[in-house]
Amino acid sequence: MQPVAHLVKVTVPDYLANLPIPDSFGGWFRLGFKDWLALVPPTALAAGVTYTLYRAWCPKARKVVTGRTNKAVQLSNPKVVDTIDVEDISEKAAFCRCWQSRNWPYCDGSHGNHNKETGDNLGPVIVKKKK
Ligand code: FES
Repeated sequence: MQPVAHLVKVTVPDYLANLPIPDSFGGWFRLGFKDWLALVPPTALAAGVTYTLYRAWCPKARKVVTGRTNKAVQLSNPKVVDTIDVEDISEKAAFCRCWQSRNWPYCDGSHGNHNKETGDNLGPVIVKKKK
């Protein structure tokens, strides 16, 4: 406990007391290079602590998880169901599984942006005729 007490009661106050913080506004313009260099670590620490607190307590800084996967397709329907006749598929068709496509139910490549933004690995299901 002795080292912690010394750090809190002696080391940190001495360090802060020796920082080259000027007494007046004009004093900031008279600081030398070494003075500015000495201010970098406490400024970085203060910025890091502030940013961490902002991320922890500010609701806008947190990512909102709605729990809803489908955010665009037939939102007024209680359940989205599509039926496609196999005979209507020429050679092959790619069907969306990410719910981001603007050409629902077909894949339009929107899963690429979704995967980039979220780190997900979604992709279409491809249906093709046997040859
Ligand atoms: Fe949804 Fe390709 S756009 S899987």
